[in-house]
Amino acid sequence: MKILTFGASNAKTSINKVLARFTATLVPGAEIDVLDLSDYDLPIYSEDLEKQIGHPPAAKAFFEKIGSADGVIVSFAEHNGSYTAAYKNLFDWASRIDQKVFQNKPTVYLATSPGPGGAASVLAAAKGSAPFFGVDLKAAVSVPSFYDVFDAKTGRIEDPNALADLIAAAETLAPPEAA
Ligand SMILES: Cc1cc2nc3c(=O)[nH]c(=O)nc-3n(C[C@H](O)[C@H](O)[C@H](O)COP(=O)(O)O)c2cc1C
Repeated sequence: MKILTFGASNAKTSINKVLARFTATLVPGAEIDVLDLSDYDLPIYSEDLEKQIGHPPAAKAFFEKIGSADGVIVSFAEHNGSYTAAYKNLFDWASRIDQKVFQNKPTVYLATSPGPGGAASVLAAAKGSAPFFGVDLKAAVSVPSFYDVFDAKTGRIEDPNALADLIAAAETLAPPEAA
């Protein structure tokens, strides 16, 4: 099954991108497709601009990427308690194609930050609004203190508690015969 992963951040060094991709490796039988938000650059959304240009190609491409996946793992970066501007902007554009941006795909929501909060605030916002956007939300996990639990040498989350949470979340995306 094809699992689309992305960090909801346009940082080249995004720890959320790393976490989403690592978690996809825990889905039994996954074929992993990594999306980089910085490849989906768009002007700031406005209704006026939409009247002029319609649905921009980057928004269509993002929407189609989700449509082509069997499952989605997205990890939310937290900026000032909320979504990064880059993700919110891309999401707003995509929602004008169809409000069900996630197209009822089985989805795991993650969030991480270097601090102890684990981006829990943005994760709560994303969970709360998931039913409005066609998200078939299977699991949601916040991983606090990313650099304490991630081993850059192995490229893995090594903390046993965080790893157990991520394995359980990943397995919700596997077909029953692969799990
Ligand atoms: C503008 C800005 C605001 C931030 N606000 C928060 C915050 O509210 N909560 C938090 O845990 N971390 C916050 N951080 C730190 C981010 O969690 C950290 O930069 C993290 O690496 C972002 O995820 P990413 O690497 O996937 O982009 C903020 C960082 C920036 C640049």
